[in-house]
Amino acid sequence: MRKILFLAFVMLGVTMELLAGGMKSVRGIQATAPVQKVLVAYFSATGSTKDVATDLAKLTSATLYEIKPTKKYTLADLDWQDEKSRSSVEMKNKKSRPEIVKDLKGLESYGVVYIGFPIWWYTAPTIINTFLESYNFKGKTVVLFATSGGSTPDKALKDLKASYPDINFKGAKLINKFDEKVVKTWVNTCK
Ligand SMILES: Cc1cc2nc3c(=O)[nH]c(=O)nc-3n(C[C@H](O)[C@H](O)[C@H](O)COP(=O)(O)O)c2cc1C
Repeated sequence: MRKILFLAFVMLGVTMELLAGGMKSVRGIQATAPVQKVLVAYFSATGSTKDVATDLAKLTSATLYEIKPTKKYTLADLDWQDEKSRSSVEMKNKKSRPEIVKDLKGLESYGVVYIGFPIWWYTAPTIINTFLESYNFKGKTVVLFATSGGSTPDKALKDLKASYPDINFKGAKLINKFDEKVVKTWVNTCK
C-alpha cells in the first residue's frame, strides 16, 4: 500500500512539473513566465570586447557567439589615422556591409540578445549592420554593450534604432572594465 502511495506521489510530482512547462520554482515561488534564453553575440577586432562578452555570457548564463568577418581585420585595416584604411573606408560609407560568416544557429530560441562591439568613429562598426540584417530579431529584446577609448554607445544606439525601427533595442552600456556588481545591476534592468 505504501509503495502504491509513494508511486502516486511521484506521478503527481512529474505531472505538476510537466504542467509548469519549464517555469522555474525558487523556494516554492513560481515564476510567472518561463526563463528566456540569452545570447551574447559580439564583434571584437583586438580582443577587448571579446573579454567583456565572455564575462557577460558567464554572468547571464548565456550562449556566447562571435560575429566573425569573413576577412579578418589587420592592424593596418584598423588605422583610423589613415583615411584609406579598411575601417576608415567602411565607416565613411553608411551602406558598407562587411561580409560575415553566417553560422549562427537557432536564434529563434533566444528571447534576449546582447550585442557587443568596439566603438568606431563614435558609433557601431558597420559589421553590426551586417549582423542585424542577416538574422531575424523581431520579437526579441536586443541590448547593446561596447568597449571604447572613452566614447559612450549612445550614438550607436540612436543610429541603430533609426536604421532598424522594428527591433526592440532595450539600451546600451559601455563596459570598459567588467565590474560584476555594476554589470549585474544593469543586466537586471534589461530584462
Ligand atoms: C577604426 C577605429 C575607430 C575607433 N573610434 C573610436 C571612437 O570613436 N571613440 C572611442 O572612444 N574609441 C574608438 N576606438 C577605440 C576602440 O573602440 C577600442 O580600442 C575598443 O575597446 C577596441 O575593442 P576590440 O579590442 O574589441 O576591437 C576606435 C578604434 C578603431 C580601430
